[in-house]
Amino acid sequence: MMHAGFLLLIILIDGVSCKVCSYQDVLDYLNLTVDNSVFKLTRPVLDHTHTTVVKLDVYLYAILAVVEKTQTFIPFIWATIQWNNERISWDPAQFCGITRLSVPENLLWKPDLFIYEMTQKDEAPLSPYLQVSYNGTVSSEDEMRVVSTCKMDVHKFPFDTQECNMTIGSAIHFVEEMRFFPYSNSSRATQFSRELMKTQGEWEFLQLSISSTNITLQNKSWELLVYTVTIKRRPLLHVINFLLPILFFLIMDLASFFIADHRGEKLSFKVTVLLAISVLLLILNDILPSMSNKTPLIATYCIVIFALMLLSLLETILVTYLMEKDSKDELQDNKEDKHKLVQTENYNTGEKETGCSCICRVTKRKKQPELLPVEEVNNIIQSGESHVLLLILDELKKLQKNAYLHHGCKEESTKSVYWAKRINRAFFVFYVVTVLLFLSFIFMEWNS
Ligand SMILES: *[C@@H]1O[C@H](CO)[C@@H](O)[C@H](O)[C@H]1NC(C)=O
Ligand SMILES: *[C@@H]1O[C@H](CO)[C@@H](O)[C@H](O)[C@H]1NC(C)=O
Ligand SMILES: *[C@@H]1O[C@H](CO)[C@@H](O)[C@H](O)[C@H]1NC(C)=O
Repeated sequence: MMHAGFLLLIILIDGVSCKVCSYQDVLDYLNLTVDNSVFKLTRPVLDHTHTTVVKLDVYLYAILAVVEKTQTFIPFIWATIQWNNERISWDPAQFCGITRLSVPENLLWKPDLFIYEMTQKDEAPLSPYLQVSYNGTVSSEDEMRVVSTCKMDVHKFPFDTQECNMTIGSAIHFVEEMRFFPYSNSSRATQFSRELMKTQGEWEFLQLSISSTNITLQNKSWELLVYTVTIKRRPLLHVINFLLPILFFLIMDLASFFIADHRGEKLSFKVTVLLAISVLLLILNDILPSMSNKTPLIATYCIVIFALMLLSLLETILVTYLMEKDSKDELQDNKEDKHKLVQTENYNTGEKETGCSCICRVTKRKKQPELLPVEEVNNIIQSGESHVLLLILDELKKLQKNAYLHHGCKEESTKSVYWAKRINRAFFVFYVVTVLLFLSFIFMEWNS
């Protein structure tokens, strides 16, 4: 008697809530067991005309790699997939308010999603569980590394922006059987991805946009969701590594116009600069993909600068040739002069009847100063030192005078030197103007 009364008391106090429920009770109610194949064999609809609606949510976790050479884009994504299973439903009130539970993923049917651009299977294990809600909504969350192809346009490298698609759809279910809807819109996906993304490396994530499309093949349509990832390259490294050095070499080449002519120094300097640029060009070969319908601007940049420098090298060769030719002429002239000098010059008086032209010729000799033959000097040294000193002094005075006069004798420059100088000046102006025009053009193109 007393026992029954105690039991009644408990029931009165606790009411309905005393019942203890486990997830297994729900599974038993649903008859969801490992052996029950009803849940996994077919699309989970009670009537075959019903459409399974798949809601998709994809966020970008990280950009692992972008390889221009192989046109590969490797992001790390987080995907949430949600669909409805019409065979599952329970009343949470009957099971102590259990609204959801998780089951191993091989117990239930799953939509066959795949990414069209994916070129490599992801080896990472998928999430082992599915979430099941009381109203039949099943969801799965997966993180995966997607190795996908992406057609990249490197025309504006390294100031380029790339758009890579991830097209997600079902391979076998037509649009009447399975529809796809994005869970969140583009701006939310972009914002959420920005928050998730920790490191971005060389690429800056700009946006993730979502669009829906149907493809039709032989009267059958499939619905696809297209996730477009827009990324922008951070150009700093390439600017420092590549663009600036080439620009510096170009400036050096421009500056070399101020190196004195006559000697081969300018020539060898220019050749060195040209060689340095060709080494830099080898780096470019590593970065850019070989096939590209439009010539990359950076290639134009390199080739034009290379061509300009080559042109300036050729110009220097021409000018050097003209100068050399001139000095050869001079040498011949000098020989003739020597004869004249021997005949006409008088050492004691130092008087010369020759005008400006003759003096200039004398001073422009390469092998200056031909004071006296060595034997003669030796003889004089033996005879008397003071006499020698006087002679040397006399010679020096003459040289000084000649050097002074030399400046005023420009009209004496031979024809080839005259042309060499004009060519040099004209080319320098042309070079500077071309370089400025070209650089402003190419930077405008890069900026557009
Ligand atoms: C549960 O499934 C088993 C087979 O897997 C079947 O024999 C049984 O009748 C089912 N029970 C209910 C209540 O549907
Ligand atoms: C089922 O319930 C979940 C919340 O648990 C809700 O997000 C979802 O929209 C519901 N599905 C349907 C088909 O009512
Ligand atoms: C794809 O097909 C479905 C069903 O015919 C239609 O409702 C939907 O609007 C289509 N989507 C597009 C992007 O054309």
